[in-house]
Formats: sequence, structure tokens, C-alpha cells
Amino acid sequence: MIYQVYPRSYADANGDGVGDIAGIRAQLGHLRDLGVDAIWMSPWYPSPMADAGYDVADFRDIDPAFGTLTEAEALIEEAHAAGIRMIVDIVPNHISSEHPWFKAALADEKAKERDYFWFRPGRGENGDEMPTDWRGEFGGTTWTRTGDGSWYLHLFTPEQPDLNWDHPDVRAEFESILRFWFDRGVDGIRIDSAALLLKDPQLPEVLEDNPHPFHDLDGVHEVYRAWRRVADSYGGNRALIGEVWMPEVERFANYLRPDELHAAFNFDFLGCAWDPRLMRECVDRTLDAHKAVGAPATWVLSNHDVTRHVTRYGREDTTFSFDNNLDGTPVDLELGTRRARAAALLSLSLPGATYIYQGEELGLWENENIPPEQFQDPMWGRRGHSRDGCRVPLPWTGDEAPFGFTTATPWLPQPAEWKDRTVQAQTGDPNSMLELYRSAIALRRTESFADFSWLELGRDVLAFCRGQDFACVVNMSGAPIALPANQSVLLASGPLDGDRLPPDTAVWLRMTS
Ligand code: NOJ
Repeated sequence: MIYQVYPRSYADANGDGVGDIAGIRAQLGHLRDLGVDAIWMSPWYPSPMADAGYDVADFRDIDPAFGTLTEAEALIEEAHAAGIRMIVDIVPNHISSEHPWFKAALADEKAKERDYFWFRPGRGENGDEMPTDWRGEFGGTTWTRTGDGSWYLHLFTPEQPDLNWDHPDVRAEFESILRFWFDRGVDGIRIDSAALLLKDPQLPEVLEDNPHPFHDLDGVHEVYRAWRRVADSYGGNRALIGEVWMPEVERFANYLRPDELHAAFNFDFLGCAWDPRLMRECVDRTLDAHKAVGAPATWVLSNHDVTRHVTRYGREDTTFSFDNNLDGTPVDLELGTRRARAAALLSLSLPGATYIYQGEELGLWENENIPPEQFQDPMWGRRGHSRDGCRVPLPWTGDEAPFGFTTATPWLPQPAEWKDRTVQAQTGDPNSMLELYRSAIALRRTESFADFSWLELGRDVLAFCRGQDFACVVNMSGAPIALPANQSVLLASGPLDGDRLPPDTAVWLRMTS
């Protein structure tokens, strides 16, 4: 089980309202008690923070807001001592406009760094029209004009110029960055926007029947084959995990071929509705695609980019998609929480690796009441949706904000209702989300979790076995259901109704015959 730490919102030790490495070290015990196998650390590098650190100015150092490289090394060591592996986040598609490469490219048209980016003349008589009409990944345009009249490409914000992955220096630099972190004991790399690196140099427009000019170009696989060689040169225990948003599952699986990435996030599952048929299809599709390439599946319910799933599952439309903005639609948090508890048992017993986004083990919901003037996410203003609502600092202790997160004002406001969601309030309460996660993760460690097979308990029930003696049953119908015979309950996501399983509730069962 891999736990995503979003450093600016985990714990603040230096009292500036922003989380830091010292805070993570001070609260490492929480992750040890939870039983995490590995931490995925969202970017902690020097950055102007135009996109919360996904605009990196130096991949070989730590932003002063988070601490120092020495502290990062100490954290890696302490995590290892606690039996926790460390995964860092590398952002190869773009860098910060404050990165020395881009500054050099802007300063001199003849600089070699110019070719590390996508500088192009504009269209139209005076070159004042953008080279293409490509839409950005956050919405909006993808080109910005510089003082000398040329334009540069940025699939995200103008502060994140895209790198030219056709250039050998770019490839060499990132292989060296991988080594830099592997040499510091890091166990894995999460690869940001992994399918976007290559662009069609002819810069064609995006047209329905033509190959996409920057999504999933075939050449990208060569990059990851080279990265795999780097990872394997460390003895075979370093992992590469891709952020690959891809509607076609076969193309997604191509990234997981034996000489490429070890794993990739399953956004199909993350976006799937709370619906037994769709969920079952999603699980089948996921397992089939991974089987074909021999890679482990991943199960992700939330991350720092998407609506927290307590909120998502409490809405009428329980899907997630960036193209379907549900902000402000009614939410039943009690229902969402009940389903999130059931989803925890589901995602922790499917075959493969489960990812947990910090705060999901506390049952946090999306803070939909952040005043827009406090939004920091560049997506706000481009897509009319801010990802800040899922990035709110964690509640640790006490009855009032900032709930032990900081001694200052947290960088984003925490809901007052989170007083029941603190680590302190939930610890020792057998009905809390935190204790459910702790028990499930502890049990999962002792289970052998053999082969997966569906168990047929009715159309609206998602049920499966792992080997002969373990089953997970999730009731997605509107009424209680009978549990199978010859079993005892190992763990339940909520109270049973006599010997029946209520709606939106899951159980883990020991099957006895
Ligand atoms: C994906 C990251 O998860 C997201 O937070 C970021 O804004 C984009 N990639 C751009 O780096």
C-alpha cells in the first residue's frame, strides 16, 4: 500500500502555515502505525509554485519552504528504518520558467538551451498568431510569445514550458536526475504526465481522425525503456510508476510492458461511478489489461488533483472527470463516508497495489467552502474548478483549526467539522475511518490473497474471492442482502443488519468450506 504525501499539507513544523519535511519526520509514526509500505512524495523541489511544485526549477535540491536536501536524506533514512520505501515525483514533460535552462533559452536566441524547448515562429503576417490552436491540459491556450517575437509551447501554464524530448541532452539530464535520487536511496519514481513527453514536430492540429500530436506518441516508450535500464542498474528493486491518463486500456498497458514502467495509476477506477455493473467492468478491464503485460494493477480512489471520494460518492453523479465539473452539486457526506468505507475494503483486497492519498484514511471530504480569493491552483481561472479543495492541510489534534497542523494560519482553511476527523479523535475509536484503515491494512498483511475470482451474489453486489478462504462482498444495492453461507466476518465497513449486509457496506469474510 502506497501513501501519497502532499508535503505542503501533511504537517508544518516551522510554523509558517505550509507543511514541510520536518513535519513529515515528526509525524512519520502515523504512517508506520497505518502500516504503509511506501510513501509517494509529491514534488518538494525548488519551485516558484506556479503549479504547487509541479513547476520545478531544480530537480536536485529541496524548496526552502519544505526544508533542505539534508533533511530529505534524513527522511529517506528514517522511512527506511521504519520499513517504509520512498518514491519521489519527477516531472519530465516541463520545467519551471525559472529553471536555468529556460532562462538561458530566453536570454539568447543562439543558446543551446533554446533547442531544449519548443520555440516556434507565430502564424499570420506578423507572426502574432499562435503556432497551433492546441488546447492546454488545464484548458486555455498552449503558446506564449516572448520578447523576441517567437512563441514557446506549454501544455500547462506559461510558467511550465514543455521540454523537447527529441533532444539528447534532455534525455541525458533526466537519466542523471533519476540516478541522483536513486543514489540517495530512493526506491521509486512517480512520473508526472508520463504520456505527454513527445510531440509531433510538424505540429499538426488536433483532429478527430488523425493521430494526436502530443498524447501518447509511440516514441515515448523509448524514453521509459531507457529509464528502466537506469532503474534496473540499481539491482532491480527500484520502481517506475507512471501517471498515464489514457482512455484506451491497451495503449495504457503498453507503458507496462516488461522493459518499461513497473506500474501506472488506474484512473479508470478513480473515475468509476459507484455502480456494481460499471465497477465490475472496470475491475475486469483493469485485470485483463495488466495480465496481458504481466504487470500489477493499481487501485486509486483519490489524489491531489481530483475531488475527494467521500464527496464524490455522496453526490448523485459519483463519477470523476475533469470535463464534468460537479462543484457545488448537493453532497450527502454521510452516504459518501459510508461508501468510502466500503471502497476502502474493496480497493485494499483487489489484486495489485493500493494507493492512499493523505487524509483519505481520516475520511476527509473536499473543502468546497474555500473563498475563491484564497485559491492557489492555476486550474482555477482556466477550467473554473480548483483542486485546492482536496489539498487542505491534515487535521491532527484538538477541537479547532488548525488542528495541530501548524501554529500559524494554514495555507488553506480547514472545515471546523474536521474536529471529529483528527488523528487524535479517531485513534482508538473502533468505528472511525482511521481504525478501519489500520485494521484493514494490518489484516491485508497477514492474508495470502491468492487468485481472484468473482462470486455471484446478485446483480447489485460486487463480490469476489481471493483463493479458497477469503472473500470481499460489497453491497451496492439499495437493500440489505444475505451473506454467503459458511463464513465468518473478518472485518466490516459498517454495522451489519443481523446477519445481513446493509446497502453501501462491505465485508471481508473468512470462508470455511
Ligand atoms: C499532474 C499532476 O498530478 C498535477 O498536479 C499537475 O498540475 C500536472 N501533472 C502538471 O504537472
